[in-house]
Amino acid sequence: MGSRFRVTVDKPPQSEELLPEVRHRIVIMSGKGGVGKSLLSSYLAVALAKRGYRVGVLDVDFHGPSVPIFLGLEGRKPSVSLDGIEPVEGPLGVRVMSLGFLTDDETPIIWRGPLKTGAIVQLLTQVRWGEQDFLIIDLPPGTGDEPLTVAQRVRVDGAIIVTTPSKVVGRVVVRAVNFARHVGLKVLGLVENMSYFYCPESGRVYSIFGDSTSDYISQKYGIPIIAKIPIDPELPGYVSRGLIYILEKPDTPLAEAFEGIATFIENWVNQVNPSISSETH
Ligand SMILES: Nc1ncnc2c1ncn2[C@@H]1O[C@H](COP(=O)(O)OP(=O)(O)OP(=O)(O)O)[C@@H](O)[C@H]1O
Ligand SMILES: [Mg+2]
Repeated sequence: MGSRFRVTVDKPPQSEELLPEVRHRIVIMSGKGGVGKSLLSSYLAVALAKRGYRVGVLDVDFHGPSVPIFLGLEGRKPSVSLDGIEPVEGPLGVRVMSLGFLTDDETPIIWRGPLKTGAIVQLLTQVRWGEQDFLIIDLPPGTGDEPLTVAQRVRVDGAIIVTTPSKVVGRVVVRAVNFARHVGLKVLGLVENMSYFYCPESGRVYSIFGDSTSDYISQKYGIPIIAKIPIDPELPGYVSRGLIYILEKPDTPLAEAFEGIATFIENWVNQVNPSISSETH
């Protein structure tokens, strides 16, 4: 590494493993904001649930929690009791816990590191997920307190790193790759979102944001490209109506890309742990 600064990550002593009821924990991250991490977290959960898996999504974005929006769950509240917090049940039984359920839209959360860390640990210990095959953890942009806390406290099975075309984005995403390596997160692969636009009228493909970044990062760091997701101008309209686009329009290239990502995850799981193939539950 060229940097003079090194991050050391000490795993705090753990008397018990957090999230014991969850078999596979996957984090979705990127150095960059607005690249589609929350869309990927939400729709990957739906695509896996469609194949019969039990899936939860934990949204630890304090400043812009958006998983409830993508899953049509805005305004819902988890039930809180002395036993813990019960996640909100979303489409196809996907269980969701988001800071967005606990805050209102207009009040900013102004917290420093220790408070954030405390809140994340509380979420990790107090949410009653029940038996889950997967927990997808949606992280905010950057390489700050949230990814660090999750990496330190939880046995994460793998990270998916989201990128979009453009050189500027590529540079920032490389930081997330290095961050993941520093903190011992296994990078499962890259997803390049908003990769291209396919015009159904002309049949032409346009690179709206510029050249691919995933090809370069994949080659340089030896990380597989899981999928390239197109820009779909229809998506935002469905999201704002609380509808799940990939369930409403399963034949679109965007929905097919999510099927490909679910297949990648299924194959990976079958390699590391053949006991959880979809026939077994
Ligand atoms: N493939 C796509 N086609 C069209 N719109 C998209 C696509 N992917 C994401 N979007 C839109 O881009 C916006 C940003 O997506 P999203 O919130 O998932 O990004 P994010 O990386 O989680 O952002 P943040 O860093 O703020 O958490 C959303 O409005 C989403 O609907
Ligand atoms: Mg997000």
